Parts: sequence; structure tokens; C-alpha cells
Amino acid sequence: MKNKTVLVTGGTRGIGAAISKNFLEQNATVIAVATSEKSCSKWLTEMQQAGFKKAETKICDVADFAACQKMVASIITKHRRVDVLINNAGITRDTSLKKMTKENWDQVLHINLDSMFNVTKPVLDIMLEHNFGRIINLSSVNAQKGQFGQTNYAATKAGIHGFTKSLALETARKNITVNTVSPGYINTEMMADIPAEILAKIVEQVPVGRLGEVDEVARVITFLAAVESGYITGSNVSINGGLHMY
Ligand code: CAA
Repeated sequence: MKNKTVLVTGGTRGIGAAISKNFLEQNATVIAVATSEKSCSKWLTEMQQAGFKKAETKICDVADFAACQKMVASIITKHRRVDVLINNAGITRDTSLKKMTKENWDQVLHINLDSMFNVTKPVLDIMLEHNFGRIINLSSVNAQKGQFGQTNYAATKAGIHGFTKSLALETARKNITVNTVSPGYINTEMMADIPAEILAKIVEQVPVGRLGEVDEVARVITFLAAVESGYITGSNVSINGGLHMY
């Protein structure tokens, strides 16, 4: 990964932060994207203190197409290329459809699904120019299995794999692979939004008997991003402790 430039949306927290760090450990230049200055500077300080000199951040709302175009253009000006794109940014607004507001629906659709177009479109242009790319999109176990309170989230996460498969076909001859990674319940701040008794019941149903760890997701992503992984495209890799098998 030495001369590679990696863009990770939502790259300063949770699974995204683990992905960013994993690429830094492999000597890549990593640009972690987040919406808040606070989150960016906190992550950057941590990475610099850990001795990673090739960590950078960009503040950008992935729901905003114009902002994404500008963000990618500024990366290209500096680094000339983006070799690896990790579309990781995502939110939940869990509630039954009966109670769901239009705002709950729109926020999740814009951030989780519109972002696939907004960020991938400008990055793809530069990957095509260089005849190389690795695009990895983060979906979820709940895209395949469904989950009470997640009609909005599951719709976006299922949509993401449709996006992956179609783009994988379009780029297969261009040395650009496109894959989906579908984590299950991973030990992040997102779990704090789930009422404790509900989370305990969910964990009981996980055959492995525990939450997953962020590093367990990150290592699969760096594997898929490797130059040597060029024959893996259009796939969906589950990392869910056996919660859902298909
Ligand atoms: N299954 C069946 N029934 C359920 C239920 C469930 N999981 N949860 C609630 N209900 C029932 C309630 O008991 C209630 O019944 P009554 O009307 O008879 O009392 C009814 O459904 C309505 O319940 P609520 O009013 O509490 O529903 P709500 O709209 O407030 O939503 C919820 C509840 C917030 C969705 C809650 O169930 C919840 O947090 N569930 C977990 C959701 C979840 O797993 N999210 C994953 C987040 S992490 C993530 O997304 C990462 C990833 O990719 C895996």
C-alpha cells in the first residue's frame, strides 16, 4: 500500500477509524472524511501521536454532491490520484415505519445511499484515468435479514450492494474492483443507540456469542483493497459472527 492514496468516508470514528488506521499501518496515505472539525482534529492528533505521518482529513458532507466533487478535486490536486475508496459513512434513525418521519427517512437515504453516487462518481473518473482502483462499500447484515425499526437503513444497505454489483460490471475490464462488506453488530458507539435489553437479546442470537470488533472488519477491507485481490469483484463479504448465513 506504500504509494497508494486511500479515501475513507466516515473515517475518523467507529469502523471507519479502524479502517483508516489499518491502511496507515500499511504505509498508505489516508484521507479520512468527516462532517465535523472536532472529529477530524481529534482523529488527526491521535494518528500523529501514534507516529503516522501520512494521515490527513477532509471535512465534507457526503450527502452533498457539490461538496464531494470539491473535496475529491482538492485531493487530486495534491495527490494526483485516489487508488482506494471506502464508502463507509452511514447513520441510523431507527424506528418502526408507523412512527418514522419523512426527515428520518430522508436523512438515512441521503447519507447512506446518495453518498454512494456523490463520492464514487468523482473518484471513478480518476480511477479510470489511472486504470486502477479498489472500491469497497459498507453494507450491513440487516440489508439481507431485515430488522425491526430499520426500514430506512435496510433499504439503503440493500441498495448499496445493488450499486456494487452494477458498478463492478461496468469497471471489470478497467482493473477496478468493487465489493461490499456487510458487518453485523460491531462494538462501536452506534450500539449505544440500541436499548440495552434489545442489544442483549440480539447478542444472544449471534452464534459466535459476542459483538464483533472493528479490527475484524478493517482487516477484511485491507485484504480486498490489495493489488493482489484483483479477481474479487462484485462480492459481498459477511462479517456477522454467523448471525445470518445465505
Ligand atoms: N421485534 C418485535 N417487536 C418489537 C421489537 C422487535 N425487535 N422491538 C419493539 N417491538 C414491539 C414493541 O414491543 C411494541 O409493541 P407494543 O406496541 O405491543 O407495545 C411495538 O413493537 C412498537 O415498539 P416501539 O414503540 O418501541 O417501536 P419504536 O418505533 O420505538 O422502535 C426500536 C423500537 C427503536 C426500533 C427498537 O426496537 C430497537 O432499537 N431495535 C433495534 C434496532 C437495531 O437492531 N438497530 C441496529 C443498529 S446498529 C446497526 O444498524 C449497524 C448494523 O449494520 C448492524
